[in-house]
Amino acid sequence: MSIVNREKLKKLHERETQRFVAEHPRCAELYVRAQDSLLGGVPMNWMKKWAGPFPVFVRDAKGAHFTCADGRDYVDLCLGDTGAMTGHSPDAVVQAVAKRAGEGITLMLPTEDALFVGEDLKKRFGLPYWQFALTATDANRFSIRIAREITQRPKILVFHYCYHGTVDESFAGLQNGVVGPRRGNIGPPVNPAETTRVVEFNDLNALEDALKHHDAACILAEPAMTNVGIILPEAGYWKAARELARRYGTLLIADETHTICAGPGGCTAEWKLEPDMLVFGKAIGSGIPGAAYGCTEEVAQRISARIHLEDCDVGGIGGTLAGNALSLAAMRATLEHVLTGENFKKMVSLAVQFNDGVSAEIQKHGLPWSVQRLGCRAEYMFRAKAPRNGGESAAAMDFELERYLHLHALNRGVLLTPFHSMALMCPETTPGDIDRHTAAFGEAAKEFVSP
Ligand SMILES: Cc1ncc(COP(=O)(O)O)c(C=O)c1O
Repeated sequence: MSIVNREKLKKLHERETQRFVAEHPRCAELYVRAQDSLLGGVPMNWMKKWAGPFPVFVRDAKGAHFTCADGRDYVDLCLGDTGAMTGHSPDAVVQAVAKRAGEGITLMLPTEDALFVGEDLKKRFGLPYWQFALTATDANRFSIRIAREITQRPKILVFHYCYHGTVDESFAGLQNGVVGPRRGNIGPPVNPAETTRVVEFNDLNALEDALKHHDAACILAEPAMTNVGIILPEAGYWKAARELARRYGTLLIADETHTICAGPGGCTAEWKLEPDMLVFGKAIGSGIPGAAYGCTEEVAQRISARIHLEDCDVGGIGGTLAGNALSLAAMRATLEHVLTGENFKKMVSLAVQFNDGVSAEIQKHGLPWSVQRLGCRAEYMFRAKAPRNGGESAAAMDFELERYLHLHALNRGVLLTPFHSMALMCPETTPGDIDRHTAAFGEAAKEFVSP
């Protein structure tokens, strides 16, 4: 449902684009120069997706703010799409990383920091054994391999519209109930229908029907979906899904890379989930590349029994730089000083403030939209009711409208996540930062409804 007049939206977008161009001459210059050496003019293809005709180039960032090459200050509610949920460059991490960088960065030998991190993760999530990777994508890939190896099953199961990094098997979706490559899937190695079962979230019958084939090694799932808007599980969903997975011999992998926003132990601790394996990347090292994956005693025993010393470096799990000293020093400092219970309390209350403010503007202007929240992550969606699953949420997406609202916010000094309308809080975010967003959102909403 939309009350947005598209002609009017186009005009408003033009006005905001002109303002953006006028206010960012240096960023424009850098973007033109980048065309000569960077594919598409950006260091990574997603960076083209920001609202505006070219990306804002960053000069420096600290806490919840960054400054662009034109010297403008922004409240960062994207926070590197969770990589900087800790705030940019937290002091404790900067110090630990600087020290470690001067003492040896990577050796393919363990440092004592790894033990601190393993022990901390064990307390947070309740899983006894941990390994490290450089990205959440890799941690997911390695977890899938372990699941396939110990179950001797070929497929994985994911939810429609999930995102778990650039994991080939997870780039699958449903079209009229049939599994196929997801829209935009670049060069899939095989049709993902060969590797993947896909069901809608919050549908236990569909989940059981898929598990009945006895060919899914694991369910790879975010406890709450976060990459197609925030979609919360219905009451009792995970308890029942957990039971089904056990009944059909399928392992449950909780990808807490984003849902860590729910609290220091993610949804696993908040909702007392009992995954067989768990993945936590992105923010775990405050943006220094690093990710962790953990498993139960049973999974540890089953996989250890199948890995032989002579072949342990050629099994398709691990990497030269995985578990390096710098990455572990960053993780230790992040876990010890930044992702603490005390900081989470602050961050969650700011997300509540964000939602209350946006919700009040939505109501004031009679827009058929809603807001959703998971811990310190908040999101507005262009539908009146919270979605139950990926299909419902995707149907309410509106790329044109989203880009306009993001550009409008950017021109008023607020950065939202480019892939949907997510706002994340870090320990340094302030109530004033949230007010800046609410004011911009209210201004945009008023313009939509005025004749
Ligand atoms: C839930 C989830 N898992 C894994 C990843 C992959 O993270 P990375 O791109 O750092 O490998 C993402 C990235 O957005 C994610 O949202």
